[in-house]
Amino acid sequence: MIKEKIEKLRRELTHHAKLYYVYDSPVISDYEYDMMFAELKRLEEENPEFFSPDSPTQRVGGKPLDKFGKVTHTARMDSLSDVFSYDELRTFIEGAQKTVPGITWSVEPKIDGLSVSLRYENGVFVQGATRGDGVTGEDVTQNLRTVFSIPMTLPEPLDLTVRGEVYMPRAVFERINAKREADGKALMANPRNAAAGSLRQLDPAITASRGLDIFVFNFQEGSPYGDGRAPESHTETLDRLSDLGFSVVSMRLKTNDTAKVIEHIKKIGAARDNLPYDIDGVVVKADLISDRRTIGEGTSTPKWAAAYKFPPEEKQTRLESITINVGRTGVLTPTANLAPVRLAGTTVSRATLHNLDFIRQRGIMLGDLVTVRKAGDIIPEVVCAHPEKRDGSETEFRMPDRCPSCNEPVYYDPDEAAAVRCTNLSCPAQLSRGIEHFVSKGAMNIDGLGPQIIDLLIENDLIKSSADLYSLRAEDVQNLERMGEKSAQNLISAIESSKSAGLERLLCALGIPNVGEVAAEALAAKFRTLDACMSATEDDLVAINDFGEITARSIVTFFSRESNIELCNRLKAAGVMTEAVKEAASDKFAGLTFVLTGTLPSLSRDEASEMIKAQGGKVAGSVSKKTSYVVAGEAAGSKLTKAQQLGVKIIDENELRRMIGE
Ligand code: IVH
Repeated sequence: MIKEKIEKLRRELTHHAKLYYVYDSPVISDYEYDMMFAELKRLEEENPEFFSPDSPTQRVGGKPLDKFGKVTHTARMDSLSDVFSYDELRTFIEGAQKTVPGITWSVEPKIDGLSVSLRYENGVFVQGATRGDGVTGEDVTQNLRTVFSIPMTLPEPLDLTVRGEVYMPRAVFERINAKREADGKALMANPRNAAAGSLRQLDPAITASRGLDIFVFNFQEGSPYGDGRAPESHTETLDRLSDLGFSVVSMRLKTNDTAKVIEHIKKIGAARDNLPYDIDGVVVKADLISDRRTIGEGTSTPKWAAAYKFPPEEKQTRLESITINVGRTGVLTPTANLAPVRLAGTTVSRATLHNLDFIRQRGIMLGDLVTVRKAGDIIPEVVCAHPEKRDGSETEFRMPDRCPSCNEPVYYDPDEAAAVRCTNLSCPAQLSRGIEHFVSKGAMNIDGLGPQIIDLLIENDLIKSSADLYSLRAEDVQNLERMGEKSAQNLISAIESSKSAGLERLLCALGIPNVGEVAAEALAAKFRTLDACMSATEDDLVAINDFGEITARSIVTFFSRESNIELCNRLKAAGVMTEAVKEAASDKFAGLTFVLTGTLPSLSRDEASEMIKAQGGKVAGSVSKKTSYVVAGEAAGSKLTKAQQLGVKIIDENELRRMIGE
C-alpha cells in the first residue's frame, strides 16, 4: 500500500517535472508540486526499505561542488572521422567494402550535444563523466542524475559502461533563452553550448532546471547480459539498451546499399528542422561488431564508422539597413540589420559586415536579399547577395564621412584594408568601448559595469577616461537609471578592489594595440613595474619570447603619447597597483615546447601547464617535430604514439619536476 503510494508519487513527480522543464506547460502549481515532493520525501524517510535511486528526491538532492573530480576512462572515448560530401562518404564506404565485401551499415542521426559515459555497478548508476580529451573527463555524476531519462537502476544487476550524447531539447533551449532575453541576460548561442554549459554547473540544482535529455548508443565496457555475452550488432545493441531502460535514437536504417545510405541521409536532412533536438549530421557505422573488428581502429577514430556532417544551415533574408559601430581603436564597422530569420537554433537579425571591402567584394546593396549562415555555428555572417532578385529599389552603401558618435570627419587608413577610422581621441563611442575593455574579465575585472551603465556615466559627464572610474563616489552613481543605493555601493567596492589587480591585468586593460592577456603577462613578467614598461625600448621588447617588431613598436608608440602617459600617471595617483603580482618567471624552459598527455600521478593538466609556463616554457595541444618534450602519464593515447614515431623526447612527471629543480 505504502509502496504503491510511493511509486505513484515518484511517477507523477517525474511526469510533472518533465511538463515543467521540458515542455514549459505545467498542469499543477509549483505549490502543489512542492507539496507532493515533500510528501514523497517524508514517506521515503519513514519507509527506508523502499529507497530507490531513481526517485526524484534522489536525483535533485546533490550538494554544490567546488570543482569537478577527474575521471580516467577505462576504455578510451574515441570520436568519429567526419566526411563533408557524398563523394567522401562513397570513398569511405568503398574502402570498407574492400575489407568486408557486402558490409551492412547502420545509419542514424548524429545528435548535436556532448558525449558522456555512464557507469553501472551491479545495475546501479555509480558514475557519469564527460568525454574530455577521450582519456580523462570530468566527474559529472550528480548532474547526470538530474537527467530523468538516465535510469538510476537497471532491471538486472549488470556491470557496464554505456556511452551517449546529452542534449538540450530545442523547446527547452528556446524557453530558457526567451527568459534570459526578458531578464536582459546574454543569450545562449545554440542548444549544444547550452547543454555543455548546463552539464558543467557545479550546482546540480541548476542542471536540474535545464531539462537535459540523452540518447545512448553503445556499450563501452562490460556485458549487457547476465551471462557475459557481447551483442553481435549495433541493431542488437540498441534493442538491448532500450530494454535496459535507455533512450535510443530513432530514424535508423540498416542496409548494405550505398545508394540507400545516401537516400536515408537526405531523408534525415529533410526531417532535421522538425526534430525536437538538434542534429549536425548522420552517422554511418558498420552494423556487425565482427566487421568492426575486421576493419579496426585508427589512432583516435574507428575506421568502421564515419560522420557525414551537414553543411552549415543557410537562409535568405532581407538586408534592411546597415548600422555603423565605432570600436575601441576608432575603427568604423558596418553591421547588417536583417529581417529576422531562424537559423541553427536562434533568431538572427544582425550580422557583421566587417569593412567596406567585404561589402564591395560581395556586391552587397542596401535592401538586397542576402544569404546568411553561422560561422562555426555561432557567429552570423552574410555569405552573398542575390542581385538577380533586385527590383530596383536597392541602394549602394556608402561609409559615412563623419563619425556617427562624435560627428568628426573620418579617416580612410591606407595601411589597413578599407579600414575607416575616427581619429578623435575624445570620441564618446571610443571612450565607452575602451572602458568596456578596461573593466572586462581579462582586464581589471570590474563587476557590475555593463555597456549601458558606462554609457550613462559618460552621458552624465561622470567619466572622461578610465582613470575617472577611481574617483567615482556612490552618491554620483546611485541616481542613474537602473541603479540603486545597493548596486551603486557594490559597484564602488568592485572598482576599489580592482586597484590590486596587478600590472599583468593593468597592461591588458590599457588597450595597447596588439597587447592582449598573454602579451600583457609576458610584459609584466619581464619588466615588473609600469614605469619600466613605459621606458622600454623596441630592442628591449623584441627580446621577449614571441614579441615581434609590430608589437614592440605599438607598445613604444603607445607609451610615447602624452595622453597615455597622463592616463598612467593618473591611475598610479589613484592608487592602482602598478607592480606585477605574479612571481618573477624563470626562463629555464625558454624556447621549449611541451605537450601533456594521459593522467599524471599528482598534477592536473592545468597545474602541470602552469608549472611549465612559470619556467618560460610553452604548452602545445598536439605533437609535432617542433615539440621539445612530451610529458606522458597513465593511459596516454595517440599523442604518445606520435611522439614515439617522431622521436620526440618523452618524460614523466618526476622528470619534469627534476628539470624544474624541485
Ligand atoms: S557513435 C567511436 N552515434 O558524435 C564513437 N556517436 O565525434 C562512437 N554522436 O562525440 C560514437 N550522435 O558522442 C555515435 N548516433 C551517434 C552519435 C554520436 C552523436 C557523437 C559522439 C561523438 C561525436 C563524434
